[in-house]
Amino acid sequence: MTLSNLAVLTVLAAGHVAAHGFVQYIEAEGVQYRGYDPGFRYQDPAPRVAGWYADNPDIGFVGPQSFADPDIICHKSARPGQEYVAVRAGANVTLQWLTWPESHVGPIIDYLAPCPSAGGCAGADKTQLKFVKLAQRALKPGATAATDWLKAWVVDDFRQDGYRWRVHVPANLAAGLYDVNGAQAYPQCVNLNITAGGATEIAGGVSPVEFYNAEDPGIHVNVYGGLTEYPFPGPPLWR
Ligand SMILES: *[C@@H]1O[C@H](CO)[C@@H](O)[C@H](O)[C@H]1NC(C)=O
Ligand SMILES: *[C@@H]1O[C@H](CO)[C@@H](O)[C@H](O)[C@H]1NC(C)=O
Repeated sequence: MTLSNLAVLTVLAAGHVAAHGFVQYIEAEGVQYRGYDPGFRYQDPAPRVAGWYADNPDIGFVGPQSFADPDIICHKSARPGQEYVAVRAGANVTLQWLTWPESHVGPIIDYLAPCPSAGGCAGADKTQLKFVKLAQRALKPGATAATDWLKAWVVDDFRQDGYRWRVHVPANLAAGLYDVNGAQAYPQCVNLNITAGGATEIAGGVSPVEFYNAEDPGIHVNVYGGLTEYPFPGPPLWR
């Protein structure tokens, strides 16, 4: 039996402003795991966690000028996390961010990619990972950014929920080792071990360096200025 090996990328794009947030904890099936904390750079050896290590001391973002650069993949100079979050297909993985500034609105997008069968996610070369888009949300149902732009975006729900974001793992997904990446773009990657699942392997993914262009309608956009519909950037949703 071969495990399929995959990775998830959550992209949280904001306006053209700096922000401060990272996935501090991950929860799945009642178990809490540590994410990568930028403070780990002062520890030698750094703790082994499921979150990917990034050179991100300012807890910043990857700007549009770097969307074709490997920095967009799991963040700057990212290296694979060495542990895995165990979860069955059909369950949710909750990403607990440390914080998120109120003014930073935009879409939240989740991606998933297979990790190589040799070495798994922990041994993955991030430039070889091919992601599919699992979910994308931007404006709340029925909301437009015309009136109260702070409340129009799902980022507001995310804040109200204590900076928690749920990624639903499709029930038909094959078991195996996977990886979650959250995102300007604030990409965060977390390794998943799908311990039980269906028969569907992920195919047709693309590298995050091909996701976005600085001039895409959903990237070069005024998130404060009365949008009634958000043109999602990146590949189509995976079915
Ligand atoms: C996953 O989360 C969604 C809400 O985000 C909820 O509706 C659903 O019941 C959850 N699924 C499981 C299996 O917990
Ligand atoms: C993934 O989970 C399976 C089932 O629990 C386990 O046998 C396997 O060792 C796990 N793999 C890793 C890399 O943790």
